[in-house]
Amino acid sequence: MIFGRVKPLDAILATAERKSLHRTLGWFQLTLFGIGCVIGTGIFVLTAAGAQKAGPGLMLAFAIAGAICIVAALCYAEIAAMIPVAGSAYTYTYSTMGELLAWTVGWALILEYAVAASAVAVGWSGYFSGTILNQFLGIHLPAWLSAAPLALGGAPGGFINLPAVVIAGLITWLLMIGTTESARVNAVLVAIKVVALTAFVALTLPSDSFSSANFNPFLPAGVFGGFGTGVGAVGAAATIFFAYVGFDAVSTAAEETKNPQRNVPIGLIGSLLFCTIFYILVAAGAIGTIGGQPIMGPNGIPFPTGSEELARQCALPQYADMLVCSNEALAHVLRAIGWSKVGNMLGIAAFLALPSVILILMFGQTRIFFVMSRDGLLPEKLSAVHPKWKTPYVVTAMTGIGVAFAAAFLPVGQLADIANAGTLYAFMMVAIAVMILRRTARDHRRDFRTPALWLVGPLTIVGCVFLFFNLPSAAMLVLPIWGAVGLVIYFAYSRHHSHVGRGIVDADDAAATLH
Ligand code: ALA
Repeated sequence: MIFGRVKPLDAILATAERKSLHRTLGWFQLTLFGIGCVIGTGIFVLTAAGAQKAGPGLMLAFAIAGAICIVAALCYAEIAAMIPVAGSAYTYTYSTMGELLAWTVGWALILEYAVAASAVAVGWSGYFSGTILNQFLGIHLPAWLSAAPLALGGAPGGFINLPAVVIAGLITWLLMIGTTESARVNAVLVAIKVVALTAFVALTLPSDSFSSANFNPFLPAGVFGGFGTGVGAVGAAATIFFAYVGFDAVSTAAEETKNPQRNVPIGLIGSLLFCTIFYILVAAGAIGTIGGQPIMGPNGIPFPTGSEELARQCALPQYADMLVCSNEALAHVLRAIGWSKVGNMLGIAAFLALPSVILILMFGQTRIFFVMSRDGLLPEKLSAVHPKWKTPYVVTAMTGIGVAFAAAFLPVGQLADIANAGTLYAFMMVAIAVMILRRTARDHRRDFRTPALWLVGPLTIVGCVFLFFNLPSAAMLVLPIWGAVGLVIYFAYSRHHSHVGRGIVDADDAAATLH
């Protein structure tokens, strides 16, 4: 039963052919789209959490997470070019391992996209409160309006993260009325982010404050901090993996891409390589200038990020200026080394550009819901297209409410770890799907073949499992619990309504006119 109800590949491709969304994107737009989605809260904010877990070993963490993403991207590239339809890992699993596992992947992708959108909203809130409100307007938003409750890993006095809720609501509204960010707007925002990070690297690496002593000890928490602790270089890699999440959104746009066989692999791998290099340079700049040693607990292990203890330590004046305590890590570094104005500009860059990451992630989420409901696994009402806006407004509104709720009450680090858990599962399933298709669809046209798949595929699987088990245990637990809820829904509803299960291979008509 587990592997039953495989959706035939030809039916998927035929559906894509007939019902496809407009194909308008080329390789350059796709690469920009990838970079637009990838560079965000991970580098602008989680650099602080990464340093708390690994100290200067954060650089190694970026390299480890980047390497795992590159092998995963090589798998994605083959399958996304071969099956260029919306739905990404969910669709690939449906055509190889059947409906039940496809459902679990679709369900996990909610963590990847919706929870990640919440994380970015919270990251944005840090820059909004710190740079826009505080630095420019002199307004100090009280903790109870700008942070999650302390008990959930927020800040002392925290209750609700209002700016994060507001931005999530605003983006939902934009998506509902049909704002897909135009390629031009995306290009401008990517340019802003790249200029901001380039300025950061250019001002920190040659800076007088840069000292090799700041890299000593390089691995204060070791390479492996221990199973479930989420510390050490590998623990930091599991968190900082978030900085790469989103490159696979390129594949969710495959159905809207011209010549996807060529353009999707370029978009995926190009955006990822570009970002990896930047991240390592940025980490070097941040740590080399102001240092990035963790605040250690009494047992010689860094206090866990998002813990009450760490929040209390960071509230003490002697620690307040440390990298690991900052909510706007990169702007903070520049201010600390005497480039306050540039720091504020970087804050504005994050303020302007992070909302587009939220938009892309939420867009990806609505399209995955849309495809799942097109397949009958979710109620068809969800895929209703608004007569005027031509958007799947019901799923968009529901997604928005979920994203805003999570952003209101959880801190960025926890949200990112949860998103990572779901993403790692999806990546692993994609690697398995590619290998299965090499066997079952040998003769199918492949314009991109993953090089050394029988090495790269297993490496992806091992890498994902490895990072998963280095997440903090709470984030690790979310995946099976979330999966169990998903299975209840599957057996209570989806299994009986599935189009494949009812013998309707291609029953969707609603897909025709989406924006
Ligand atoms: N990779 C994206 C970010 O860092 C999700 O914000």
